[in-house]
Amino acid sequence: MSTAALDPTPAPSDPVPGVPPPGGAGGAIADVEWWRTAVVYQVYIRSFADGDGDGIGDVAGLRSRLGHLQALGVDAVWINPWYASPQADAGYDVSDYRTLDPAYGSLADGEALIAGCHAAGIRVLLDIVPNHTSDEHAWFTAALAGDPAARARYLFRPGRGPGGDAPPNNWQSTFGGPAWTRTTTPDGTPGDWYLHLFAPKQPDLDWDNPEVREEFADILRFWFDRGVDGFRIDVAHGLVKDAALPDAAHPELRFRHSEPHPAWDQDGVHAVYRAWRTVADSYDPPRVFVAEAWVASPERLARYLGADRLHTAFQFDFLRAPWDARWQREVIDRSMASAAQVGSPSTWVLANHDMTRQVTRYARCQPDFLAEPQWERDRWAGETPDLALGTRRARAAVLLTLALPGVAYLYQGEELGLEEVEDIPAGRRQDPTFAQTAGTDLGRDGCRVPLPWSGQAPPFGFSPPGSAEAPWLPQPPSWRSLTVQSQQDDPASTLTLYRQALRLRAEQWVRAPDLQWVDSPAGTVAFNRGSLGCWVNSGGDPVALPRRARVLLASSPLDPATGLPPDTAVWLHLGGD
Ligand code: BGC
Repeated sequence: MSTAALDPTPAPSDPVPGVPPPGGAGGAIADVEWWRTAVVYQVYIRSFADGDGDGIGDVAGLRSRLGHLQALGVDAVWINPWYASPQADAGYDVSDYRTLDPAYGSLADGEALIAGCHAAGIRVLLDIVPNHTSDEHAWFTAALAGDPAARARYLFRPGRGPGGDAPPNNWQSTFGGPAWTRTTTPDGTPGDWYLHLFAPKQPDLDWDNPEVREEFADILRFWFDRGVDGFRIDVAHGLVKDAALPDAAHPELRFRHSEPHPAWDQDGVHAVYRAWRTVADSYDPPRVFVAEAWVASPERLARYLGADRLHTAFQFDFLRAPWDARWQREVIDRSMASAAQVGSPSTWVLANHDMTRQVTRYARCQPDFLAEPQWERDRWAGETPDLALGTRRARAAVLLTLALPGVAYLYQGEELGLEEVEDIPAGRRQDPTFAQTAGTDLGRDGCRVPLPWSGQAPPFGFSPPGSAEAPWLPQPPSWRSLTVQSQQDDPASTLTLYRQALRLRAEQWVRAPDLQWVDSPAGTVAFNRGSLGCWVNSGGDPVALPRRARVLLASSPLDPATGLPPDTAVWLHLGGD
């Protein structure tokens, strides 16, 4: 390794030699295979940027900040649900799929945003929520009023036991508490129960009903006709239940690895996606899907993929893997092998709006999350995070992610190195998980705190100056050092690292050949893709890097004497030129 090449942080304004300007999609917008190698940025719209000063992010705010996404160099955005919604679960309770929630803007604003993204070279994925509607959706209000056709679109069942007083089965909602709520008939007497895998305000649809299937095909067309490039599919593994709705061996619906549940991953769900693929393929260019499917293994996940099914599905095992080379390598290997068998790219992701931010995940002990029945939020109660360590590991983890073949999703704020906000006062928490577990699970608000853009104090440019309302969740004052403004010209910042990494990925990694593992010391993951190499050290000791390698980018400064320090990743150009 040439020691002269050890400086990992070229000045942010310096173009990386041979790399086109940012706006990764700019040159590739006509490429119909874009979805195989894209970097997609998840916009949690409620927390991205507030254009009208009500403390809630919106379309106007997003439009005003598209320059940030161009400078970052992403190919596409995935926007969390922006439809009309009572917001009982932050928009995953949709009351009208064909318009925007007024808090976010009008349908015309949405259409203008799609056009604005396209003009900026950025594709747009929306988030379709097909497992359930809001209880304020016209279908469900008609069902409660007794309309038989409307009732048949949901899962109403009589209760068990004397008077039907017990729920129809033992399933426990993902958010805590029973997965069934009893209705009251129009004459005031107790009636049937309805199923909700999530909150009571999110009644599950019956996907055996052809009217449900037709309606969602039509909703897809509605947005495809408006230029949307594809959809992330919410709870893609949940639409079809075991028709008998039997008791479950493990009543909890909260995802537990490798334990089958009659609500999840039933074979019948694939017919839905075959039909959706036909709809997507009828457009020019074809539209694409990414599934949120929590299933027991990469092999089960691959069943959602293929030329007649979905294009991509998140590899959540990668997100859930501890900071440990053995797990990383195993997860990457299995994910790539199973996706490749059906001709699909792997879809790597380290964060989203449901999971503890990676800076905080990596800042605590690293149990075997893949085998653990508990989610990490519960597992870590009381353990103080070492955020400097977590940040160092998160910076290394993104270099690992972006060097892998396939698609990468980034979650807004990870490019700033934001941590999970764990001290939100109980009275400000909004995630239904918090209320439905009586506060034993803090819920997901901590990864949803509005972004810090500029300035020295909240709202950090999230809302316009002089706004009447504070951000909908409180921002930590310490984020003054993590704003876009404070990082954009700092060569050592996490934002600079992300910008450099996306440029190099667009220029070099996306065209590189398949991955070949390299024998490397315990505690490291190392692979080559042609003349490019990626080394990641999650062990406790520094390791020597290959001779004759030139450093393209490193997540933390390297040590000329010893090579790659712990909790650091490096991209190499092999061959010594
Ligand atoms: C979404 C969550 C949402 C749930 C119910 C998911 O998996 O990502 O944010 O609460 O589906 O729609």
